[in-house]
Amino acid sequence: MKNIAVLTSGGDAPGMNNAIRAVVRSGLHHEMKTYGIYYGFEGLCENDIRELRRENVSRILSRGGTILGSARYPAFKELNVQKKAVANLREKGIDGLVLIGGDGTYRGAKDLADLGVRCIALPGTIDNDIASTDYSIGFFTALETAVSSIDKLRDTSFSHRRCSVVEIMGRHCGDLALYAGIAVGSEFIITPETGYDKQRTLDAVKQSYRDNKRHAVVVVTERILDIDVLAADIERHTGYETRATVLGHVQRGGSPVAFDRVLATEMAEYAVELLKKGANARAVGIRGMDIVDIDLDTALTMKKDVSKKRYGLVGRLVR
Ligand code: F6P
Repeated sequence: MKNIAVLTSGGDAPGMNNAIRAVVRSGLHHEMKTYGIYYGFEGLCENDIRELRRENVSRILSRGGTILGSARYPAFKELNVQKKAVANLREKGIDGLVLIGGDGTYRGAKDLADLGVRCIALPGTIDNDIASTDYSIGFFTALETAVSSIDKLRDTSFSHRRCSVVEIMGRHCGDLALYAGIAVGSEFIITPETGYDKQRTLDAVKQSYRDNKRHAVVVVTERILDIDVLAADIERHTGYETRATVLGHVQRGGSPVAFDRVLATEMAEYAVELLKKGANARAVGIRGMDIVDIDLDTALTMKKDVSKKRYGLVGRLVR
């Protein structure tokens, strides 16, 4: 293998830059020419592919976002679009690709692998919704952002004897809300996995009010309910004046925490080693303390295990 390339796709995640840097550094170590593909699959189809040298990836370890840019590109589902991408790679003699992103990126990687491009996928998403890994690159940074934001909301809630309803990202996965809720001692956590029971939520917050707590926090994963409506219901039923806050895209930015930096670096280095060994269509992940890889097909069909201990905690610790 002489030439490899790296792309980031889908929603960006802190730590992507660390992975890009490690791909370039490992590629250089193995005397491979390394290319960066700009703006994900869209840039791949538009031939926005440029060589990355050591100097192009210096001083990016602490930067959020992705220096390569990212995009969501639904057109990549079409075979003629995929073939264009393969032709652009062939033209530059690129025979191996490291793709960093979420499930959409994994599907794109599989399509390219089916057309003969060697692909290794890395989990890069704040949602932590990739079943083939315990943690994805960016999750812990987004969690830190969510936790520090809710801590601030709690300060003001405490001053005003209010309840805060906070909407957290995660798409269809409740991990960010769950971990954040546990970390801040939230009164109630609502995720796709826990389900939503309006009466239980109102009862829990009302009980906090009766217990003379000066503040309450309810954490909710996006897309489950309208948090303004829930805030109004809480205000009507509990005695707490209530405010709703959507944390939104602030959760996607910021300097990656150390764990994401290390995870991204290890996974990317592992991916280049896999390419070097001739592997194809693999998904890299972390299981316990180990960096592992599995077949991309299997990764795409796996379901996330939500019977994990932490979901049990919701029942025991949160009212
Ligand atoms: O997948 C990452 C994520 O931030 C989700 O948590 C969220 O639902 C979605 O992306 C937002 O997408 P966009 O950046 O396209 O608005």
